[in-house]
Amino acid sequence: MNTRVTVKTLQSMKRNGQKITMLTAYDYPTAKMLDAMQVECILVGDSLGMVVQGKTTTIPVTLDEMIYHGEMVARATEHAMVIVDLPFPVGQLSIAHTVESAATIMKRTQCQAVKMEGGHQQASAIRAMVDAGIPTIAHIGLRPQSVHALGGYRVQRDADQLMLDAKAAEDSGAFAILIECVPPELAKQVTDHVAVPTIGIGAGAFCDGQVLVTNDMLGWNSGYIPKFVRKYVDIKSIAEQAVAKFRDDVRDGNFPAANESF
Ligand code: KIV
Repeated sequence: MNTRVTVKTLQSMKRNGQKITMLTAYDYPTAKMLDAMQVECILVGDSLGMVVQGKTTTIPVTLDEMIYHGEMVARATEHAMVIVDLPFPVGQLSIAHTVESAATIMKRTQCQAVKMEGGHQQASAIRAMVDAGIPTIAHIGLRPQSVHALGGYRVQRDADQLMLDAKAAEDSGAFAILIECVPPELAKQVTDHVAVPTIGIGAGAFCDGQVLVTNDMLGWNSGYIPKFVRKYVDIKSIAEQAVAKFRDDVRDGNFPAANESF
């Protein structure tokens, strides 16, 4: 029986007032663990540029890199919907190029959906992808691929723009809307006005679901941690203790033991 989370699962969760969980993954073991934990959605975000590659923005991430990571993640899952980001500038070029790139991502990774930054300005591209049978999430509010145009990673407070983007995304067929870094009351207005689920990050508690970067919430990162992150565990310090123990055991001749040898 197919127990995979689908577009319909998420839409019925919104109707029934059930909150949706989404986390990021960029590799097989992380995706396998998230899938076993029954999160509804796993996002192969272009945040991998910062989280995995140590870059300062998501802008340098390529289509091939998204496909490379997306394929590993999709292969690890049976339950979660896997969503792969369209990297910059795929969603900003011609519509034909956007659809072709999104289709390539779906074909080569076997993911179930793609995410694209933008709303009103990307409405035709969203419509074209949906018409091509590509389930699409729109990403509005703070759009990290436009960080330079937006003047930095800032909270987005323009209610009219947010509502315009959300309605355009919904009307164009986006099956969900990700809202990043907006005040909770604005995210609530959007959530109340659209029939499709909203997934928030730094957008307060009123969205239909929440997403975090997994490395941030596990304490497994090396960069800046935004205010909206809750760190559930400090994996980095646990790992550091283990690595220090290994280093000392090797130096002291305590590793390997007889039962760890052939
Ligand atoms: O790329 C990403 O991981 C994202 C999240 C910040 C939602 O878009």
